[in-house]
Amino acid sequence: MKELKIEKKVKRVRGELRVPSDKSISHRAIIIGSIARGETVVHNWLRSADTEATLNILKVLGTEILEEGETLRVKGKNYSFTEPEDVLDAENSGTTARLLLGVLSTQPFFSVLTGDKSLRSRPMLRAVEPLREMGADLDGREMGNRLPISVRGGKLKGISFFNKRSSAQVKSALLLAGLKAEGMTEVLEPVLSRDHTERMLSFFGAEVITLVEEREHIVKVRGGQELQGREVYCPADPSSSAFHCGLTLLAPDGELLLRDVLVNPTRDGFYRKLREMGAEVVYENEREVSGEPIADIRVRKGDRLRGVKVLPEEVPALIDEIPMLAVLMALAEGRSEVRGAKELRVKESDRIRAVVKNLRKMGAKIEELEDGFIVEGVEKLKGARIETYGDHRIAMAFTVAGLVAEGETIIDDISCVEVSYPSFFKDLESIVEYLR
Ligand code: S3P
Repeated sequence: MKELKIEKKVKRVRGELRVPSDKSISHRAIIIGSIARGETVVHNWLRSADTEATLNILKVLGTEILEEGETLRVKGKNYSFTEPEDVLDAENSGTTARLLLGVLSTQPFFSVLTGDKSLRSRPMLRAVEPLREMGADLDGREMGNRLPISVRGGKLKGISFFNKRSSAQVKSALLLAGLKAEGMTEVLEPVLSRDHTERMLSFFGAEVITLVEEREHIVKVRGGQELQGREVYCPADPSSSAFHCGLTLLAPDGELLLRDVLVNPTRDGFYRKLREMGAEVVYENEREVSGEPIADIRVRKGDRLRGVKVLPEEVPALIDEIPMLAVLMALAEGRSEVRGAKELRVKESDRIRAVVKNLRKMGAKIEELEDGFIVEGVEKLKGARIETYGDHRIAMAFTVAGLVAEGETIIDDISCVEVSYPSFFKDLESIVEYLR
């Protein structure tokens, strides 16, 4: 546990930042590099506790990965991994656990996957059930819903699966398994979840069919396709950029340029919502890198933000930004509402509970709903003792809140930022001017 006391107040935000690379893409680059044939070079790879958990497991499974700073060279195993001698540890990372359950299901050996206390309490049946249907033998606590989970994989057959929660982790697990299954694997979603796996598989030479039918998003892969190693550039993480962007809009004055940010439409819902709230958020220099759209995002402090609604179908594209969005809503003019975000209850912490409890302590007028919250904006928040529940996004969102609140804020544990953004506080210091 590492406590942070926030006493100084922000006067202005200025300058520019290239925040660390996208976590979702960094996981996928080394996983897909490992299952491909030949060498994959990954540039600007995010070094964080979550992505290192994926890296360590891939190495234990026999993948040779040469690390030269933020550049990784992955010697593809073409889906032929080695049986691990010991339990594999996904630590705090849901993406590691669920995507690798998909990969392990293709392997004709025995493996066991576990995680830290938080991950061991998160639901896994959503990935386990369809993988069982494909033919893999998975078991675990609570009939396979909780880690540790054992996998005996092997010959799989393609399935058609309705991904009712629009979980990208589940979709990705099935696509990674589907590439080794007999026949076609298809995933249908009511709302398109982040599509990095589909994009990256295409980038590695697979034929990935995507279509929209009767308002369902469908993605299909045929088994037996081989991927070819590639050179991949990881863009800056829009979820990490969101905290600095939020601070710029809450500070008395500010302008910030966030460079090289991933602006994939399945991920940039936070920035689009900010525009709806009246913020000046402009994409400059839009371009495509390794199959993903990126831009430099310019944010300028303007008038007070307006309250806004987040509808259920808008949730997937901003799910990880809701803690930061909640802080912005708590200080916006009028009423804001988030609905259809029940999934937040099974993230690294129960994020609905964490946001509501902490914002209330800071004087916000917020009501908890089963699937979200309603907040009536106030002019000022007041300092409080914040409980992060070991959740990196709660720690960072409330650091921003503390920097603009009246009085002193204490964040009970900031060590969790290591999970996605180890240099968060250093980056923050580089763009902030304090009131004396
Ligand atoms: C992720 C998918 C999302 C997201 C998580 C990362 C991914 O979770 O919240 O932080 O990289 O695929 P779900 O798949 O559970 O919706």
